Amino acid sequence: MNFSKTLINWYLKSKRELPWRETSNPYNIWLSEIMLQQTRIEQGLPYYKKFIEEFPSVFDLADASQDKVMKLWQGLGYYSRARNLHATAKHVAYELNGKFPIDYKGLLKLKGVGDYTASAIASISYNEPVAVVDGNVYRVLSRYFNIDTPINSTEGIKEFKALAMELLDKKHPADFNQALMEFGALQCKPKNPLCESCPFNNSCLALKESKIGELPVKIKK
Ligand code: ADE
Repeated sequence: MNFSKTLINWYLKSKRELPWRETSNPYNIWLSEIMLQQTRIEQGLPYYKKFIEEFPSVFDLADASQDKVMKLWQGLGYYSRARNLHATAKHVAYELNGKFPIDYKGLLKLKGVGDYTASAIASISYNEPVAVVDGNVYRVLSRYFNIDTPINSTEGIKEFKALAMELLDKKHPADFNQALMEFGALQCKPKNPLCESCPFNNSCLALKESKIGELPVKIKK
């Protein structure tokens, strides 16, 4: 079985039930992906629930006071995310008639939405074949292919994005991308990865070369 098939099979068996996996509404996906940047799912989950309860649609978020948004965000950190979130909600609600841009390129133009978030929304909401690369993806791919290019170098960022694009299951981008992130979070963990039960333990190059603990490589800046 190839990489993508094995990965998606693992995901269908192992994935966590999460509220944003019950929908493909771009508002919900956008909100969850902004919250999950630099944030663990366990930490972000209560905030996501709180926000969706208070602001079920992008109009509700747009109409809230800055103060209320910032208060609800309290404790999640990286507060520029909350300011951009609010500004983007207003932009989508009042300049785009409540409709999120319909593809990766359009999504990238939104404030606070970079390559990661645009790829996540486009693939999860619209099944557009764009690969998502987050910290989990860097870790899984650097280990599986035994790649020691620093993940925070210009070269590394390009190399891993290209590799992820190549591996991406073009028919199932939503599942593939979420599977790769989930696999990094649950199986190919930063410390004490579960190699014994790993579906790739016959093909993972870092495991073969005893390099798991050394990957991914990050340069000090
Ligand atoms: N981390 C951030 N977004 C995620 C997603 N959609 N699935 C799994 N892990 C994630």
